[in-house]
Amino acid sequence: MKNLVIAVDGPAGAGKSTIAKLIAEKLNINYIDTGAMYRAITYKCLQNNIDINNEEEVIKIAKDCEIDFKDNNIYLNGEILKDEIRTMEVSNNVSNVAKIKEVRYLMVDVQRNIGKINSVILDGRDIGSYVFPNADYKFFLVATPEERGKRRYKELVNKGYDVNLEEIINDIIKRDEIDSNREFAPLVKADDAIEIDTTGKSINEVVQSVLSKINI
Ligand code: C5P
Repeated sequence: MKNLVIAVDGPAGAGKSTIAKLIAEKLNINYIDTGAMYRAITYKCLQNNIDINNEEEVIKIAKDCEIDFKDNNIYLNGEILKDEIRTMEVSNNVSNVAKIKEVRYLMVDVQRNIGKINSVILDGRDIGSYVFPNADYKFFLVATPEERGKRRYKELVNKGYDVNLEEIINDIIKRDEIDSNREFAPLVKADDAIEIDTTGKSINEVVQSVLSKINI
């Protein structure tokens, strides 16, 4: 059977990773969190005190980063990465790393190679529009910035972080703006993607609505 590729795109905090992970489990396919890849590079840059605006230095770091996924976990040069890539510091900087074309080329290569050999669901910003324009299914999840901010806030508070809701909503709005306006492979809904507004919907409702569109 041909590999199945499912793209889940949308703005920050729209529920993409939660939904994609559950769909992966239901369909018994791999899940790739492409945002985690850009976060991993950003984390590495911050660890090395690299100025994020210095593109050459960021590209050098990205070239030295080998990223793998195993059991839905991301590994950077062989080391598992968890909550260290979800901090506000990483969130505040990641969109400026992700707008660098050379960084995207490196990440997109990894993503396409995974899709070549496995059935996979990927969540991101440019999966349906750029990485896999011929994906079998494309979804675009949206929700109001307030709802998205509240979800992120709850997630971070549950993990024990001392965070501020307003700061999170502002970060989400700012990231969406940079992600939507970058020159190369911006955040955009592919023409043939199915849009799902997750505002006010439960996780289960969204999962059911995605599954109802998939015929395998
Ligand atoms: O999905 P998440 O919010 O963790 O993504 C973090 C950031 O990574 C996004 O704000 C965006 O700048 C970048 N990203 C991207 N392309 C993707 C996935 C994420 O540019 N496919």
